Amino acid sequence: MAQQLPDDVVLSVENVSIVYHTSRGDVRATNNVSFQLRKGEAMALIGESGSGKTTVSLSLIRKLPKNAQVTEGRILYNRDHKVRDVLKLSKGEMRSFRWADCAMVFQGAQNAFNPVLKVRRQFEDTARAHGWNDKEAVRKRAMRLLELVRLDPDRVYDAYPHELSGGMKQRTLLALGVLLSPQVVILDEPTTALDILTQRAIIDVLNNMQDELGFSIIFISHDLALAAEMADTVATVYAGEIVEIGSVNEMFYRPLHPYTLGLLASVPKLDNQEDNMMSIPGTPPNLITPPSGCKFHPRCQFATDKCHEDEPVLVEYEHLAACWHTERVIETRGEYV
Ligand SMILES: Nc1ncnc2c1ncn2[C@@H]1O[C@H](COP(=O)(O)OP(=O)(O)OP(=O)(O)O)[C@@H](O)[C@H]1O
Ligand SMILES: [Mg+2]
Repeated sequence: MAQQLPDDVVLSVENVSIVYHTSRGDVRATNNVSFQLRKGEAMALIGESGSGKTTVSLSLIRKLPKNAQVTEGRILYNRDHKVRDVLKLSKGEMRSFRWADCAMVFQGAQNAFNPVLKVRRQFEDTARAHGWNDKEAVRKRAMRLLELVRLDPDRVYDAYPHELSGGMKQRTLLALGVLLSPQVVILDEPTTALDILTQRAIIDVLNNMQDELGFSIIFISHDLALAAEMADTVATVYAGEIVEIGSVNEMFYRPLHPYTLGLLASVPKLDNQEDNMMSIPGTPPNLITPPSGCKFHPRCQFATDKCHEDEPVLVEYEHLAACWHTERVIETRGEYV
């Protein structure tokens, strides 16, 4: 049966679960994750190290490591009213999907360039791998994209990677990422290795590119301030689950989940009122033997017996959150956000 999605939804992730098989046992890195990404929307995934942000995004382009298995769910992708399940694409279809439909800039990708090839070759090779052999046309498109990321196109196109600074490499990667006009661009910690001014510049460039080209973004970041600048929608990931999802304003000013509240409260404020800062006690759980009930309960200031026993699901309150005690969070959040 043909699958249906609303016209403006480009990606629909539905109940996806992923495990890593390891000698110590199965790591349950993604549990029942669902979300929809709309045309032109930027969604940020936020959460501590090890929460499962990269795992989810790798599944979207089927680039998970060999020991990973998607145990359930489907990932629907919509282009021009044609809906396909990414998990069911053939190898050949997948290769073209990865650049032409959904491109990813990987965590730590500044080193992804082949050091012995000029930037030009990396653009040409990428194009050729997708049957695009007209070097002059590739050059034209590359010039436009390099300009969009505010680099000197002629100079960069003929440079070797080592002639570019970290920030320039990252911009070049962004340009390369959209060479084949993908509808979805996944950026995994795109600014982490860069200094703060360069980070800002990359975010500006990204916003600019997105305005111009209209793609949708999945943006993964530890940095809430950057996520706030990039995103329309924010999803908090904890222990492999989305525990809260809403618009950037809802999430940053009216959080409903204690974990989101903790992430926000642990960001130093400009007015530097230290007594308003709170850090989340403890560490993320072991995903081979995750806690019972709500996985956040061992670290949660609001936890009760119910939280030990029953796992909450996402419910619509002001927006979607998975917590038994959203009312308590609402009473308290004014002190922190
Ligand atoms: N190849 C692998 N084999 C086994 N376990 C893995 C593998 N890759 C990741 N994991 C585990 O899966 C969980 C999720 O990891 P993931 O890299 O998706 O988190 P993340 O949110 O992207 O973290 P970070 O912010 O550090 O990048 C972690 O518990 C991690 O240890
Ligand atoms: Mg990661």
